[in-house]
This record gives sequence, structure tokens and C-alpha cells, in this order.
Amino acid sequence: MDFNFATAPQGSIFDTHAHYDDERFDSDRYELLASLKNSGVGGVINCAVDIESSKNVIKIAEDFDFCYSAVGYHPENLPDSKSLDFEKLCELIKHKSVVAIGEIGLDYYWHQDNKDYQKQSFLLQTEFAIKNNLPVIVHDREAHADTLSILQAKKPRGVLHCFSGSVEMAESILKLGMYIGVGGVVTFKNSKKLAEVVKSLPLNRILLETDAPYMAPEPFRGKTNNSAYILFVAKKIAEIKGVTETEVLEQTYLNAKNLFGV
Ligand code: NI
Repeated sequence: MDFNFATAPQGSIFDTHAHYDDERFDSDRYELLASLKNSGVGGVINCAVDIESSKNVIKIAEDFDFCYSAVGYHPENLPDSKSLDFEKLCELIKHKSVVAIGEIGLDYYWHQDNKDYQKQSFLLQTEFAIKNNLPVIVHDREAHADTLSILQAKKPRGVLHCFSGSVEMAESILKLGMYIGVGGVVTFKNSKKLAEVVKSLPLNRILLETDAPYMAPEPFRGKTNNSAYILFVAKKIAEIKGVTETEVLEQTYLNAKNLFGV
């Protein structure tokens, strides 16, 4: 497989949300990660979904100096025992690659039967992030109202990843000082709502992301995503906002550095 398809300048792409520990990368993980630098990628945050995956993203960061880690429990991966292992998380955040708690949040699309447990877990992990002076990387699927109310109550630093809310909700997120994560969805033909949101956002509050292996942008929709494809997300945002793609890449890179302190 040829990975040298992008023309982004060296070190110009910061992918704030990827899952390179995912099994879909098992066959070519190291080859792909090694190729990303030549495709313009300067930084990647691998977001864990549970303790096992937190250890795996840290392992990846040890092998690739441009990779950073977010550790925590994704709402779809909460333990059946209903007890989150904060002792283990405490140990994991000591690793120098860890720059955030994530991905954490609420998913009412896949799970409607454990909303209270999801809210409690999101709340506790947000408090844990604040206590340890780390930003949060937040997942919100069909749970806008509850996500917003927890964020408004706790006011963490962080990003609402793969934003799918309204212009009004984006305004509320900005008011909290948080960033908005934009990925492949913005390139889809049916993403009018997100285009409106992007139009309304100041460029200094947008973070670029893949959610790789998921959410590949056009013209790769449906394929396995990777950080080099962010170029197509930057192109689309540039088109929507009437700026150059270089401006989009440079400002969003700076935004990532500001939020995650890398
Ligand atoms: Ni994700």
C-alpha cells in the first residue's frame, strides 16, 4: 500500500483525535505511523477507550515521538463492574506522553439503558482531569443536552470532538472556553449543519481530527482513515471560511499546542 498521497508541508498537520491502537491497524500500524511524518503530520493524539487501550496508546507514543496520549474510559467501554480504576489512571497520567483525559463523554446512540452510569462516569473523569490539570477530549453522540450541562457545571478545559450539535450549542461550548473538533464529516455532501457551525466558528477555536480508523473524509469516505487525510478536512474548512488551507493548518496546529501544551 502506498501511503505517500498527501502534499501537506512537513509537520503542518496536528491530528487531535485518532485511535491507532485499533485492531484495524494491526496489519500495518508501524509502517503507516512511520510514513505519516513524510505526509505532513507533525502531531497525533491517540485517544484510549479503556485501561487496556490506555496502555496501548502510551506504548505507541514510546515508539513515535510525534504521538501523544489521552487516557480514560469511552462511554461505550465502561466496565461492567461499574467501578472505574482511578488508581490505574493516576499511574498512567504520569507518563510524559499523556496530554489529556479521553475519550470520555456520553453515547445515547448505542446505549440508552445506562444513562445514569454514563453521566456519573463522565462527571468523575472530568473532575479527575480538572484535579490533575489536564484537558478533556469529549465524545457526545445524541446526548447534547446532558453533555452540555455536565460541561457547564464543571467547566473543564478541552475539546468537544466530532462536533454534531447546532450553531447555538457551538456558541455555548465557545463560551466555556472549549474547542470544537472537526473531522471528515465536514467533507460529506449531507453535512450542511456542520458547515454552518464551521462558518460561525472563529478559526482559533477549531481543532482538526480524524477519529481514525473511522470517519475518512471525501474522497476516501468509507475507507480506513489516517492522519494524512486531514489535508482534505483543512481544504474543506478553508473553502467554507474563505481562507487558505495553509491558514487553517497553521492556526489549528497552534490551537492544538495551546490546549494540550505540546
Ligand atoms: Ni474517537
